[in-house]
Amino acid sequence: MNLTGKRILITGASSGIGEALARIAVEQGASVVGVARREDRLHALAERLGRQFTPVVCDLEDTTAVDTIKSLKHFDCVIANAGRGSTIMPLDLNLESLEAMMRANVYSALHTLQGALPSAQRGDSFVFVGSILGRIPYAPWRSAYNASKAALAALIVGWRQELYRRGVRVLLVNPGLTKTEFQSTANPESITLPNLHLDSTEFPSMKLQTSDEVALTIIKAIESDRDEVYTREETARWVANYYRELSDGRDLVRHLLEP
Ligand SMILES: NC(=O)c1ccc[n+]([C@@H]2O[C@H](COP(=O)([O-])OP(=O)(O)OC[C@H]3O[C@@H](n4cnc5c(N)ncnc54)[C@H](OP(=O)(O)O)[C@@H]3O)[C@@H](O)[C@H]2O)c1
Repeated sequence: MNLTGKRILITGASSGIGEALARIAVEQGASVVGVARREDRLHALAERLGRQFTPVVCDLEDTTAVDTIKSLKHFDCVIANAGRGSTIMPLDLNLESLEAMMRANVYSALHTLQGALPSAQRGDSFVFVGSILGRIPYAPWRSAYNASKAALAALIVGWRQELYRRGVRVLLVNPGLTKTEFQSTANPESITLPNLHLDSTEFPSMKLQTSDEVALTIIKAIESDRDEVYTREETARWVANYYRELSDGRDLVRHLLEP
Protein backbone atom coordinates (compact mmCIF):
# COMPACT_ATOMS: atom_id res chain seq x y z
CA MET A 1 0.00 0.00 0.00
CA ASN A 2 1.38 3.37 -0.96
CA LEU A 3 0.56 5.36 2.14
CA THR A 4 0.89 8.77 0.48
CA GLY A 5 -2.40 10.60 0.90
CA LYS A 6 -4.07 7.71 2.76
CA ARG A 7 -6.11 8.35 5.89
CA ILE A 8 -5.30 5.84 8.64
CA LEU A 9 -6.86 5.30 12.07
CA ILE A 10 -4.46 3.79 14.61
CA THR A 11 -5.74 2.84 18.05
CA GLY A 12 -3.33 2.54 20.95
CA ALA A 13 -1.14 5.25 19.41
CA SER A 14 0.16 6.63 22.72
CA SER A 15 2.93 4.02 23.09
CA GLY A 16 4.64 0.90 21.79
CA ILE A 17 3.53 -0.65 18.51
CA GLY A 18 0.79 1.94 17.89
CA GLU A 19 3.15 4.87 18.40
CA ALA A 20 5.69 3.28 16.02
CA LEU A 21 2.91 2.67 13.49
CA ALA A 22 1.81 6.31 13.68
CA ARG A 23 5.35 7.63 13.23
CA ILE A 24 6.16 5.32 10.29
CA ALA A 25 2.81 5.93 8.57
CA VAL A 26 3.28 9.71 8.82
CA GLU A 27 6.88 9.36 7.51
CA GLN A 28 5.43 7.44 4.56
CA GLY A 29 2.99 10.24 3.72
CA ALA A 30 -0.21 9.11 5.45
CA SER A 31 -2.51 11.28 7.45
CA VAL A 32 -3.00 9.54 10.82
CA VAL A 33 -5.65 9.80 13.51
CA GLY A 34 -4.26 8.28 16.71
CA VAL A 35 -6.55 7.13 19.52
CA ALA A 36 -5.68 6.34 23.15
CA ARG A 37 -6.62 7.38 26.69
CA ARG A 38 -3.44 9.22 27.75
CA GLU A 39 -3.88 12.77 26.48
CA ASP A 40 -0.36 13.95 27.42
CA ARG A 41 1.28 11.13 25.44
CA LEU A 42 -0.90 11.72 22.37
CA HIS A 43 -0.23 15.47 22.42
CA ALA A 44 3.53 14.92 22.79
CA LEU A 45 3.35 12.67 19.72
CA ALA A 46 1.32 15.27 17.83
CA GLU A 47 4.04 17.84 18.53
CA ARG A 48 6.67 15.50 17.10
CA LEU A 49 4.69 14.38 14.04
CA GLY A 50 3.08 17.68 13.06
CA ARG A 51 -0.10 18.34 11.13
CA GLN A 52 -0.33 14.87 9.60
CA PHE A 53 -1.15 13.43 13.04
CA THR A 54 -4.44 14.13 14.83
CA PRO A 55 -4.77 12.93 18.44
CA VAL A 56 -8.15 11.70 19.70
CA VAL A 57 -8.47 10.95 23.39
CA CYS A 58 -10.94 8.12 23.90
CA ASP A 59 -11.44 5.05 26.07
CA LEU A 60 -12.23 2.36 23.51
CA GLU A 61 -13.68 0.04 26.16
CA ASP A 62 -16.58 2.44 26.58
CA THR A 63 -19.53 2.08 24.17
CA THR A 64 -19.44 5.85 23.56
CA ALA A 65 -16.22 5.18 21.61
CA VAL A 66 -18.38 3.93 18.71
CA ASP A 67 -19.85 7.42 18.16
CA THR A 68 -16.47 9.09 18.67
CA ILE A 69 -14.97 6.98 15.88
CA LYS A 70 -18.04 7.40 13.66
CA SER A 71 -17.58 11.18 13.86
CA LEU A 72 -14.05 10.83 12.40
CA LYS A 73 -15.53 9.74 9.02
CA HIS A 74 -13.73 7.68 6.38
CA PHE A 75 -10.40 5.86 6.73
CA ASP A 76 -8.62 3.91 3.99
CA CYS A 77 -7.16 1.71 6.70
CA VAL A 78 -8.08 1.11 10.33
CA ILE A 79 -5.50 -0.48 12.62
CA ALA A 80 -7.16 -1.73 15.81
CA ASN A 81 -4.05 -2.13 17.91
CA ALA A 82 -5.13 -0.94 21.39
CA GLY A 83 -4.98 -3.59 24.07
CA ARG A 84 -3.20 -4.69 27.19
CA GLY A 85 -2.24 -7.79 29.17
CA SER A 86 -2.75 -9.05 32.69
CA THR A 87 -1.19 -11.63 34.95
CA ILE A 88 -3.34 -14.35 36.47
CA MET A 89 -2.91 -18.12 36.49
CA PRO A 90 -5.75 -20.12 34.87
CA LEU A 91 -6.90 -21.74 38.12
CA ASP A 92 -7.13 -18.33 39.81
CA LEU A 93 -9.42 -16.80 37.19
CA ASN A 94 -12.59 -15.04 38.16
CA LEU A 95 -15.26 -13.16 36.26
CA GLU A 96 -13.65 -9.78 36.93
CA SER A 97 -10.22 -10.70 35.58
CA LEU A 98 -11.69 -12.36 32.50
CA GLU A 99 -14.09 -9.48 31.81
CA ALA A 100 -11.30 -6.91 32.16
CA MET A 101 -9.32 -8.59 29.39
CA MET A 102 -12.39 -8.99 27.19
CA ARG A 103 -13.08 -5.27 27.54
CA ALA A 104 -9.48 -4.31 26.79
CA ASN A 105 -8.86 -6.61 23.84
CA VAL A 106 -12.26 -7.58 22.37
CA TYR A 107 -14.71 -4.77 23.14
CA SER A 108 -12.13 -2.11 22.19
CA ALA A 109 -11.65 -3.82 18.79
CA LEU A 110 -15.41 -4.26 18.36
CA HIS A 111 -16.10 -0.60 19.12
CA THR A 112 -13.38 0.44 16.66
CA LEU A 113 -14.96 -1.71 13.95
CA GLN A 114 -18.49 -0.52 14.71
CA GLY A 115 -17.40 3.11 14.63
CA ALA A 116 -15.42 2.92 11.39
CA LEU A 117 -17.56 0.50 9.38
CA PRO A 118 -20.41 2.87 8.43
CA SER A 119 -17.93 4.99 6.41
CA ALA A 120 -15.99 2.02 4.98
CA GLN A 121 -15.66 1.67 1.21
CA ARG A 122 -14.65 -1.13 -1.15
CA GLY A 123 -10.86 -1.55 -1.02
CA ASP A 124 -10.50 -0.41 2.61
CA SER A 125 -8.65 -2.53 5.17
CA PHE A 126 -9.29 -3.33 8.82
CA VAL A 127 -6.18 -4.62 10.60
CA PHE A 128 -6.51 -6.17 14.04
CA VAL A 129 -3.50 -6.71 16.28
CA GLY A 130 -3.87 -10.07 18.00
CA SER A 131 -1.11 -12.10 19.62
CA ILE A 132 0.72 -15.37 19.20
CA LEU A 133 -0.84 -16.17 22.59
CA GLY A 134 -4.26 -16.11 20.93
CA ARG A 135 -3.08 -18.99 18.74
CA ILE A 136 -0.82 -20.90 21.19
CA PRO A 137 -1.55 -20.00 24.82
CA TYR A 138 1.84 -21.22 26.06
CA ALA A 139 2.16 -18.58 28.83
CA PRO A 140 -0.41 -19.66 31.46
CA TRP A 141 0.04 -16.50 33.59
CA ARG A 142 -1.53 -14.60 30.71
CA SER A 143 -4.63 -16.84 30.91
CA ALA A 144 -7.31 -14.15 30.57
CA TYR A 145 -5.27 -12.28 27.95
CA ASN A 146 -4.76 -15.49 25.93
CA ALA A 147 -8.50 -16.15 25.99
CA SER A 148 -9.33 -12.59 24.92
CA LYS A 149 -6.94 -12.71 21.96
CA ALA A 150 -8.28 -16.16 20.97
CA ALA A 151 -11.82 -14.73 21.10
CA LEU A 152 -10.71 -11.79 18.96
CA ALA A 153 -9.15 -14.16 16.39
CA ALA A 154 -12.41 -16.14 16.20
CA LEU A 155 -14.56 -13.01 15.80
CA ILE A 156 -12.28 -11.71 13.06
CA VAL A 157 -12.98 -14.79 10.92
CA GLY A 158 -16.70 -13.96 11.02
CA TRP A 159 -16.15 -10.25 10.31
CA ARG A 160 -13.95 -11.22 7.34
CA GLN A 161 -16.69 -13.50 5.96
CA GLU A 162 -19.37 -10.84 6.33
CA LEU A 163 -17.26 -8.09 4.76
CA TYR A 164 -15.80 -10.18 1.93
CA ARG A 165 -18.50 -9.28 -0.61
CA ARG A 166 -18.33 -5.62 0.33
CA GLY A 167 -14.65 -5.66 -0.68
CA VAL A 168 -13.52 -4.65 2.79
CA ARG A 169 -10.45 -6.58 3.87
CA VAL A 170 -9.97 -7.92 7.42
CA LEU A 171 -6.46 -8.84 8.48
CA LEU A 172 -5.14 -10.30 11.74
CA VAL A 173 -1.51 -9.66 12.70
CA ASN A 174 -0.08 -11.72 15.57
CA PRO A 175 3.05 -10.31 17.19
CA GLY A 176 5.22 -12.26 19.60
CA LEU A 177 7.22 -10.73 22.45
CA THR A 178 7.79 -7.05 21.62
CA LYS A 179 9.70 -4.43 23.61
CA THR A 180 6.95 -1.98 24.66
CA GLU A 181 5.15 -0.94 27.84
CA PHE A 182 3.02 -4.09 27.53
CA GLN A 183 5.10 -6.09 30.04
CA SER A 184 5.11 -3.40 32.73
CA THR A 185 1.36 -2.80 32.33
CA ALA A 186 0.57 -6.50 32.44
CA ASN A 187 2.93 -7.61 35.22
CA PRO A 188 2.37 -6.12 38.68
CA GLU A 189 5.72 -5.98 40.47
CA SER A 190 4.33 -8.04 43.33
CA ILE A 191 3.83 -11.11 41.14
CA THR A 192 6.71 -13.44 40.29
CA LEU A 193 6.14 -15.11 36.98
CA PRO A 194 6.65 -18.88 36.89
CA ASN A 195 9.37 -20.29 34.66
CA LEU A 196 8.78 -22.24 31.51
CA HIS A 197 11.00 -24.98 30.10
CA LEU A 198 11.57 -23.22 26.84
CA ASP A 199 14.20 -21.38 24.96
CA SER A 200 13.90 -18.91 22.15
CA THR A 201 15.25 -21.34 19.56
CA GLU A 202 12.42 -23.76 20.19
CA PHE A 203 9.84 -20.99 20.68
CA PRO A 204 10.68 -18.22 18.23
CA SER A 205 7.98 -15.86 19.45
CA MET A 206 9.98 -15.52 22.70
CA LYS A 207 12.68 -13.62 20.78
CA LEU A 208 12.17 -9.95 21.52
CA GLN A 209 11.25 -7.69 18.59
CA THR A 210 11.27 -3.90 18.56
CA SER A 211 8.01 -1.99 18.07
CA ASP A 212 9.46 -0.58 14.82
CA GLU A 213 10.03 -4.11 13.45
CA VAL A 214 6.46 -5.09 14.31
CA ALA A 215 5.01 -1.84 12.92
CA LEU A 216 6.87 -2.29 9.62
CA THR A 217 5.56 -5.86 9.30
CA ILE A 218 2.02 -4.58 9.90
CA ILE A 219 2.37 -1.88 7.24
CA LYS A 220 3.83 -4.41 4.77
CA ALA A 221 0.96 -6.80 5.55
CA ILE A 222 -1.59 -4.17 4.53
CA GLU A 223 -0.33 -4.33 0.97
CA SER A 224 -0.19 -8.15 0.89
CA ASP A 225 -3.18 -10.37 0.16
CA ARG A 226 -2.75 -12.34 3.41
CA ASP A 227 -5.61 -12.80 5.91
CA GLU A 228 -3.34 -13.53 8.85
CA VAL A 229 0.29 -12.65 9.45
CA TYR A 230 2.90 -13.38 12.14
CA THR A 231 5.54 -10.78 12.78
CA ARG A 232 8.24 -13.47 12.58
CA GLU A 233 8.26 -16.03 9.81
CA GLU A 234 9.54 -18.80 12.08
CA THR A 235 6.59 -18.20 14.42
CA ALA A 236 4.19 -19.11 11.59
CA ARG A 237 6.03 -22.42 11.16
CA TRP A 238 5.90 -23.01 14.90
CA VAL A 239 2.13 -22.46 14.94
CA ALA A 240 1.69 -24.86 12.00
CA ASN A 241 3.73 -27.48 13.85
CA TYR A 242 1.76 -26.93 17.07
CA TYR A 243 -1.60 -27.55 15.34
CA ARG A 244 -0.24 -30.52 13.39
CA GLU A 245 0.79 -32.11 16.71
CA LEU A 246 -2.54 -31.13 18.29
CA SER A 247 -4.46 -32.84 15.49
CA ASP A 248 -2.44 -35.97 16.34
CA GLY A 249 -3.55 -35.62 19.97
CA ARG A 250 -0.40 -34.05 21.44
CA ASP A 251 -0.35 -30.66 23.15
CA LEU A 252 3.30 -29.56 22.88
CA VAL A 253 3.04 -26.98 25.67
CA ARG A 254 1.39 -29.15 28.37
CA HIS A 255 4.69 -29.92 30.12
CA LEU A 256 6.30 -26.49 29.93
CA LEU A 257 5.46 -25.10 33.37
CA GLU A 258 8.23 -25.67 35.90
CA PRO A 259 7.07 -26.83 39.35
N1 LIG B 1 4.32 -6.19 23.49
C1 LIG B 1 4.10 -7.47 23.26
O1 LIG B 1 4.90 -8.34 23.67
C2 LIG B 1 2.87 -7.87 22.48
C3 LIG B 1 2.83 -9.19 21.98
C4 LIG B 1 1.71 -9.59 21.25
C5 LIG B 1 0.66 -8.70 21.04
N2 LIG B 1 0.73 -7.44 21.54
C6 LIG B 1 -0.41 -6.54 21.29
O2 LIG B 1 0.03 -5.35 20.67
C7 LIG B 1 -0.91 -4.30 20.93
C8 LIG B 1 -0.13 -3.04 21.34
O3 LIG B 1 0.52 -3.29 22.57
P1 LIG B 1 1.98 -2.73 22.90
O4 LIG B 1 2.87 -3.89 23.05
O5 LIG B 1 2.35 -1.64 21.98
O6 LIG B 1 1.72 -2.20 24.39
P2 LIG B 1 1.66 -0.71 24.99
O7 LIG B 1 2.93 0.01 24.73
O8 LIG B 1 1.22 -0.89 26.39
O9 LIG B 1 0.51 -0.01 24.13
C9 LIG B 1 -0.85 -0.30 24.32
C10 LIG B 1 -1.66 0.84 23.71
O10 LIG B 1 -3.06 0.53 23.82
C11 LIG B 1 -3.72 1.67 24.35
N3 LIG B 1 -4.92 1.26 25.08
C12 LIG B 1 -5.04 0.28 26.01
N4 LIG B 1 -6.30 0.24 26.48
C13 LIG B 1 -6.99 1.22 25.82
C14 LIG B 1 -8.31 1.68 25.88
N5 LIG B 1 -9.21 1.15 26.74
N6 LIG B 1 -8.70 2.70 25.08
C15 LIG B 1 -7.80 3.27 24.25
N7 LIG B 1 -6.52 2.88 24.14
C16 LIG B 1 -6.11 1.87 24.93
C17 LIG B 1 -2.68 2.30 25.26
O11 LIG B 1 -2.95 3.69 25.43
P3 LIG B 1 -3.50 4.39 26.75
O12 LIG B 1 -3.00 3.62 27.93
O13 LIG B 1 -2.97 5.77 26.62
O14 LIG B 1 -4.99 4.31 26.60
C18 LIG B 1 -1.42 2.14 24.41
O15 LIG B 1 -1.36 3.19 23.45
C19 LIG B 1 -1.85 -4.83 22.01
O16 LIG B 1 -3.07 -5.22 21.43
C20 LIG B 1 -1.11 -6.05 22.56
O17 LIG B 1 -1.98 -7.01 23.09
C21 LIG B 1 1.81 -7.00 22.25
